[in-house]
Amino acid sequence: MAQNWTPNSWRQKPIQQVPDFPDLAALNATEAQLATYPPLVFAGEARRLKSALANVSEGRGFLLQGGDCAESFAEHGADTIRDFFRAFLQMAVVLTFGAQQPVVKVGRIAGQFAKPRSSNIERQGDVELPSYRGDIINGIEFNEKARIPDPERQIMAYRQSAATLNLLRAFAMGGYANLENVHQWMLGFVKDSPQAERYRKLADRISETMDFMKAIGITSENHPSLRETDFFTSHEALLLGYEQALTRVDSTSGDWYATSGHMIWIGDRTRQPDHAHIEYCRGIKNPLGLKCGPSLTGDGLIELIDLLNPQNEAGRLTLICRFGHDKVAEHLPRLIRAVEKEGRKVVWSCDPMHGNTITLNNYKTRPFERVLSEVESFFQIHRAEGTHPGGIHVEMTGNDVTECTGGARALSGADLADRYHTHCDPRLNADQALELAFLLAERMKGGRDEKRMVVNG
Ligand code: PEP
Ligand code: CO
Repeated sequence: MAQNWTPNSWRQKPIQQVPDFPDLAALNATEAQLATYPPLVFAGEARRLKSALANVSEGRGFLLQGGDCAESFAEHGADTIRDFFRAFLQMAVVLTFGAQQPVVKVGRIAGQFAKPRSSNIERQGDVELPSYRGDIINGIEFNEKARIPDPERQIMAYRQSAATLNLLRAFAMGGYANLENVHQWMLGFVKDSPQAERYRKLADRISETMDFMKAIGITSENHPSLRETDFFTSHEALLLGYEQALTRVDSTSGDWYATSGHMIWIGDRTRQPDHAHIEYCRGIKNPLGLKCGPSLTGDGLIELIDLLNPQNEAGRLTLICRFGHDKVAEHLPRLIRAVEKEGRKVVWSCDPMHGNTITLNNYKTRPFERVLSEVESFFQIHRAEGTHPGGIHVEMTGNDVTECTGGARALSGADLADRYHTHCDPRLNADQALELAFLLAERMKGGRDEKRMVVNG
């Protein structure tokens, strides 16, 4: 077990991004109540994810991580979850086909509620109010009452997470993810989108392969891997009181696990090595993500890896790089070299969202071509450095929103007002997400062909 660590040792450390709860007694009571509730995920599942990520870190697999920037109470419903899962499965199938490698599927879902903010205050006209920090903390409505942090919201977030996870488990294991349904995953609006023809062709090839396998006796009835899929959950471990309440000892190993989700990550604003968020995360055994932005130095990264993964365990740590399309070439190579020099085992993942946010017509948006460009650079840099571009981390939804500009439908700044629903950052819609998956698949296929040429040449 990590030295001198307890589930509450983070409370002795300086901390960033803490909400101003007016009623601390109520907060304590809520945390005490949550501590009596059942875990949302099990240690064995987190270990299974860790071993899948260990394969990715060794170049045998690809991590697909994605979902809302912030889940909301208002958008909670079966259709939203199904549409997300369907878009996510489509991406995964495209990537599996492109990479010819297992795709590890991790949603930003069933717990992704708390948001770090760049300012404590939001101003509209002459009015100043505390910033919205995610539905688990306060309300998005711009009025004084809504913006007061309310501990009761943690209970609601816990219950929403449990219900969401329940449906996701049913989808993943109960037949919906059966590869025989590969055609049915076409979303209504993706059906007549520029991606539809590409997807249909791929689905036809998969169906043909399935028919062939059926002919030789391999069916989804006798091969569960054709009808079931592993789907894991993740979120930013920002609200540490909530995380602590759901931190439990695994009875089989005696180790501590966060049971709020399979994987948790540390945000770019809360990764100070001597602060609370790193302290909490170092003691739990789940797979961890660490957001890496432009201000992170090579030495700083190694210091964090020493704290978070002192045993150099493969699969423990995923570095989620989010530099921006115009900064990735400056920052990624130096971090890769620092990690390689020290022989640290990590999964390299690319978050092409958080370094590419701009404001257009008063909306926060992300130009799709910048998202693609950061991903392209990420792949090129890894090829040049001889390391494995192991994953992608995106903010996306299964719905037909208009939050990011560009893509095959060429959404413009003027379109943003149509269906701008996000509670925080702009997400790729299902169409854009699928387009990104096709691009990635091409790049991964390119990498495979290159490797073959090296082997044969
Ligand atoms: C996020 O992933 O929503 C986020 C806030 O990211 P970052 O910490 O990288 O800014
Ligand atoms: Co975000």
